[in-house]
Order: sequence, then C-alpha cells, then structure tokens
Amino acid sequence: MEKLLIFGGSGLLGSHATLYFEKIGFDVYSVYNKHSNFPNKKNEIQLNVMDQSGLWNLLSTLSPDVVLNCSGLTSVEDCEAHPEQAKFLHETFPETLARYTANNTSKYIHISTDHLWEGERSFYKETDPTNPINVYGKTKAKGEQLVLTENPSSLVIRTNFFGNGLNWRQSFSDWVIEKLKLNEKFYGYNDIYYTPISIPYLLEFLNRVLELDCNGTFNIAGSERVSKYHFIKKFADLMQFSSDHLEVSRYIDNPAKIPRPMDMSLDTTKLSKAIGLIPPNIEESIRSILI
Ligand SMILES: NC(=O)c1ccc[n+]([C@@H]2O[C@H](COP(=O)([O-])OP(=O)(O)OC[C@H]3O[C@@H](n4cnc5c(N)ncnc54)[C@H](OP(=O)(O)O)[C@@H]3O)[C@@H](O)[C@H]2O)c1
Repeated sequence: MEKLLIFGGSGLLGSHATLYFEKIGFDVYSVYNKHSNFPNKKNEIQLNVMDQSGLWNLLSTLSPDVVLNCSGLTSVEDCEAHPEQAKFLHETFPETLARYTANNTSKYIHISTDHLWEGERSFYKETDPTNPINVYGKTKAKGEQLVLTENPSSLVIRTNFFGNGLNWRQSFSDWVIEKLKLNEKFYGYNDIYYTPISIPYLLEFLNRVLELDCNGTFNIAGSERVSKYHFIKKFADLMQFSSDHLEVSRYIDNPAKIPRPMDMSLDTTKLSKAIGLIPPNIEESIRSILI
C-alpha cells in the first residue's frame, strides 16, 4: 500500500483528499495545524510546517511514497496583510518538499492556482508565461518555479475548485447556499471569470495523472468558463432555489479592493490528451457535489 502524506489535510481540498485517497487504497497521513478534522483517525498529525525540525522529523520518520501539498494561505486579503507568511507557505515550504522528494525518489504533488496572470485573456495554457498581480499570485507563481527546479518530476496542479465546506471553513458553494436560503438580496460578480471544477472531479483527475506517472504542470479545471454570477445562478437553478434575490455586481466598481485577475480561466487540452477525458462542464460539476 502506497504511503501518502497530505499537508493541509484540514483544509477544504485536503480534507476531501484525505477521505478520497483512503477510499481508493492509499495509506494516508493527514497533517493539520490549527483545525483537527479527523480527531478519531490515528493518522492525523498536528504540525506547524514553519517548525523546520518537526517537518524533517515527520518526513524522515514516515518516509512517504507520495507527498500532496494542499496547504496555503488561501485568502488574497491575508496574503496582502502577511506577505512573509504567504512567502513561506507558497515558496519556502514547497521548495523544501520538492527537495525532500527529489532526494528520496518519492512523488511530490503541488497544488497551485489559476491566479497566476493579469487576467486580460481567457483559457490560459500551461505554457503561458505567468504575470501575477497580487501577493497571493506572486508567491504561488514563484513557488511553482522553485518546485520544478528542485524536483522536475513533481506534478504541479493549477486549478480552481469548489465543494462542500468544513465546520471551520465555509466554501464558496456553502456561502451561495446560505445566501439563497436567506431570501435576502445578494450579489454576484459578472466581470470575474473562471473555470471551476468540483472537488470530486478534481481528485479523480488528479489520481489519473498520478497513475499515469505524469510530471510537470497540468491545468485541472472545468471545461466551461463562467462568471461568478453565472456560477451562482446555475447553482440556484440546479438546487431548485429561487434566484430572485441574486443581483449582478461588478468587481471593478469597488476600487478599494485588492487587484485580482478578472479572467482566470484555464485551458485543459493538455489534461484531456493525457487522461483521455473531457473535464466536466459547470452543470456536471455542480451535480457531483449535490448527490
Ligand atoms: N479554494 C480554492 O478555490 C483554490 C483555488 C485555487 C487554488 N487553491 C489552492 O489549493 C490549495 C488548498 O486550498 P484550500 O482552499 O483547500 O485551503 P484552505 O481550506 O484554506 O486550507 C489551508 C490549509 O493549510 C494549512 N496550513 C496553513 N498554514 C499552516 C501551517 N503553518 N502549518 C501547517 N498547515 C498549515 C491549514 O491548516 P489548519 O487549518 O489546520 O491551520 C489548512 O489545512 C492551496 O494551495 C490553494 O492555494 C485553492
């Protein structure tokens, strides 16, 4: 049985990944820092990854076959407020994992983002040079480079996902459901575009590229480019909620906000060629988390 060590195992993606990879037969060890999600699991490990000696101790004791890094400082606002923390989590820490896995012939899977460009075009390819515009994007872009320099056999996954949240962390789709149930006026941006994919599909596709022993950068995203408004509207329709209280708003109308790419959509041609599957459209993705 392959030993898989997941960092960020208490996060939105990492907690689903912990359950998914266990289900398909991996021996999973799931690391959290502040939020224990699986208190009854013997393989849940508490570690602040800024503790270098604790980290080396864990890696050398466990000697994992695969390391999946789902940790990060995922709020764009928090990254602007704490750039040193963002730099450590998105650059220094992944670089350490890439070095460790390169020296120990284990596989490193690095979860990156779609937040890597200025957002003036659509459907970014793996080969498009990055041009990030905020601390989150800049540190994530630099982290990818460091990872692939240290360990070119790493898998770098660029994505944007949604799924059911956690008791400590509401997801975007949880927020949408809450707003729809409240029957109060709320807003969705119609000028921010992306290609979201549900967590179940993301994990299935990630496992396929892992099985094929792929390396390098892969976009794992949905096939359909939607605005945030469109996503919410589709969600409401599929859940048979009224969207009468949903109104259109524009991100650019709020100049006080942190710069964000207005288009983060990803091209998935490389992924489709590798795994022989077309990624889900938005309806298929949403349905996969409603079941
Ligand atoms: N959410 C999205 O839609 C999205 C989109 C594109 C890319 N991504 C990328 O996908 C990855 C996962 O995102 P997510 O939304 O699932 O993350 P999340 O829910 O915000 O969780 C972040 C995780 O990082 C862990 N962490 C943070 N600082 C730590 C530290 N010092 N030591 C140990 N663990 C630490 C947290 O542990 P504790 O909570 O236990 O402290 C938590 O498990 C990230 O790399 C993110 O950049 C996310």
